[in-house]
This record gives sequence, structure tokens and C-alpha cells, in this order.
Amino acid sequence: MAQRVFSGVQPTADSIHIGNYLGAVKGMLRLQEECECIYSVVDYHAITVPYEPARLPGRVLSVATDYLAAGLDPNKSALMVQSDVPEHVELAWLLGVAVPVAKLRQLPTYKDKRARTGNTNVGLLCYPLLMAADILIYKAELVPVGRDQLPHIEITREIARLFNNTFGETFPEPQGRVNAAAVVPGLDGGGAMSKSVPGSFIALSDPPEEIRQKLSRAVTDPARQRRRDPGEPARCNIYTIHGFYTPEATCQALAQGCRAGEIGCLECKRTLADEMIADLAPLQARRAELLAHPDTVRDVLREGARRVRPLAQVTVAEVRAKMGLVGVARTT
Ligand code: TRP
Repeated sequence: MAQRVFSGVQPTADSIHIGNYLGAVKGMLRLQEECECIYSVVDYHAITVPYEPARLPGRVLSVATDYLAAGLDPNKSALMVQSDVPEHVELAWLLGVAVPVAKLRQLPTYKDKRARTGNTNVGLLCYPLLMAADILIYKAELVPVGRDQLPHIEITREIARLFNNTFGETFPEPQGRVNAAAVVPGLDGGGAMSKSVPGSFIALSDPPEEIRQKLSRAVTDPARQRRRDPGEPARCNIYTIHGFYTPEATCQALAQGCRAGEIGCLECKRTLADEMIADLAPLQARRAELLAHPDTVRDVLREGARRVRPLAQVTVAEVRAKMGLVGVARTT
């Protein structure tokens, strides 16, 4: 039987950026050829940090639209909204009884978010329980994620073990899979492209003019003040991004021109903008088409939940039975 894959994306922004796309989404979509994939827009997770309720539905729809535009094929993979399968929450509660509080408190993701947002809500602490439930409820074996999520996969494996030891063999231990290929640097000259750093990212939805503008403001090799100054492509984020979009021969010519002080940063950025805009064009055309027919996206999400919810219900029934929650008052 094909391996089952689960992954979740948070609807925390209106569109995913090219860093998410190249670093994670492409790898996730490649798996749909050989595995049975379930991909979820995890809205229950997104509400653990401050957010605007009125904007959440639009964001859920928009992220789902991005996935479809990027090539998620609803005939091969299920795409669903987490809160359409509320069994995830029930399983998180059930798993929670087997997990010591200290395990959740010591997670770096919890400490970071707490420090950054000043948030101390119970939901944030229990975030990994819900993530474990997302994965275990489908008995998924493979979980494509970003590197920062590996501690969550580790704790999911521990939770599976703890549960199996306490209540009997139930869950396989899932493997995390990091797509090593791509870390896309931000345009701000700092680290990886990030949606929490404005000006560092290019969204999949950015129109050509915005792409040009963002690139024109991007930080390059600090040694190049003037066009004549020789540069070092290895120090330049823009050059790294060229690697994802621009043909090898052009990259080499740009590198040579940069080192010799013959090609200016603006020209180099213009070439990148042209390549990027051309590369994103088909995706953006599909995105525009889907945005014009949001009901198509809603149908995909509804069908996704309809398909996977019975799987979740079977697992929850199994877990309930193992834990002695047998529905004494139920007649059937
Ligand atoms: N925590 C993940 C992130 O922020 C999102 C997520 C939620 C997830 N549940 C999941 C990822 C289950 C993989 C599997 O990126």
C-alpha cells in the first residue's frame, strides 16, 4: 500500500511566499505522485497566536488556493481544513492525558513563540498535542515539514510510543522529512525568507510590478556601492535566488560580470525579475482563475474533509475503546 503522508500549513498570511513554495510546497507536491497525501490548512493551530477572526476565513481560502495553483491535484491528494474534521481536537485531548506538561514546556518552538508574542495561553502550550493528533489520527508515516518543525515530529513519535505503551499498540511512529534542497534567502540581507519580516519575501500572489519593486530594494553584496566595485556573488542573496530561477549559463555570466564590476546590481536584479515573473506566470494564471471561482476551492476542501473524516473517526473510535470510553449510555 502507498505510504500515507500528512502535512499542515498555517493560514497566518494571505498568500505563501516563494521561500515556502521552493522550500516546502514543491516537495510536498512531489510526494503526491507516489504516496497517499493528506494536506490540511490548520486553522485550529493558527488561532493560538493573536489574530483577527474576521480575516481567518479569507486566509484559509487563500492558502488553499495557493496550494491548488501550485499543483496540488485534488484527484490525487486530499486538501482539507482542519476544523472540518473536529475529531483532531478530540484526539489531542485523549493524547494529552499521556503527556507530561514538562515535555511541552521545554519545546523550543513554545519558548520562542512565548517570548516573541508574550502569549501564555494553554492553546500555545498544547499546540504540539494537536499537531501530533493531526498526524496520528491518519496513522501517517511520513510528514514533510520545515526544519523548525522537527522537534514537533520528535514529540509526536514520543507521544505515539507513550500511548502505545500505556493503552496498547495503536500508532506507527511517523518520520519527518525535511526538503534539504532549498533555503531561500530573504531580500533583507538577513537569514531565510520569512513572512514575519516585511520586505524580506515575495508572495506567490505578488504582481510583476511588485516583484520588480521588491527586488529593486533588495540588499545585495555590501561591497558593491558603485557599479564598478567588484562584487562576490557568494555573498549576495540575490545571486542565491538566481540559482532557483535563472539558467546556469546566465548565472555564470552574471557572476563573472559582478566580480569584474561590469554588471550592476540593478541589471542583475532586472534579469532575476524577468525570470521569476516568467516562472510564476502559469501559477499566477491558475491562481487568478481559482480566485474568480472560489466555489471550486470550497468544493475541493469539502470533498477533502468528506474523504478523510471517516478515517479520523475510525482512529478516534479505536482510541476511545482502548481508553475505556465505550459509550455506556449508547444503545447501538
Ligand atoms: N506546525 C506546523 C507549522 O507551523 C503546521 C502543522 C500543524 C503541521 N499540524 C501539522 C505540519 C501536522 C505537519 C504535520 O509549519
